[in-house]
Amino acid sequence: MKKVITYGTYDLFHIGHLNMIKRAKELGDHLTVAVSSDVFNEGKGKTCVIKDTDRLAIVDAIKYVDHAILETSWEQKIEDVKKYDIDVFVIGDDWKGKFDFLKEYCEVVYLSRTEGISTTELKAGLKK
Ligand code: CTP
Repeated sequence: MKKVITYGTYDLFHIGHLNMIKRAKELGDHLTVAVSSDVFNEGKGKTCVIKDTDRLAIVDAIKYVDHAILETSWEQKIEDVKKYDIDVFVIGDDWKGKFDFLKEYCEVVYLSRTEGISTTELKAGLKK
């Protein structure tokens, strides 16, 4: 069984998130999605509209997702890849090159993003 993992914040869940998750699942047979925790985001200076337990529940309910976990540190990625016996790490190409250090442990794939939508843009639109 080919196991895939992807990471993200998934705040104000939108079609770009869904497209990424669907395409991630198509790269294998089993998909784990790691959702960044509120505490981890705070460390990055990022505040979410939706709390982490709700973002996790939404992601977990998506039919392409076999396993949903919280991401609480930068170091976690290597640990997860080993722990869950991951074959493919996938993420949007806004992160291109940033996770090449994982190539020692699994295949690393950067997928193109859906154009014209992001949580940042949604938040900005709501403020108007
Ligand atoms: N993603 C995507 N297309 C978009 C937005 C996000 O493919 N239009 C992907 C990202 O590349 C990542 C995953 O979805 O692999 C989760 O992204 P996340 O950072 O949670 O979403 P954004 O909407 O980009 O949020 P922000 O604006 O806060 O960066």
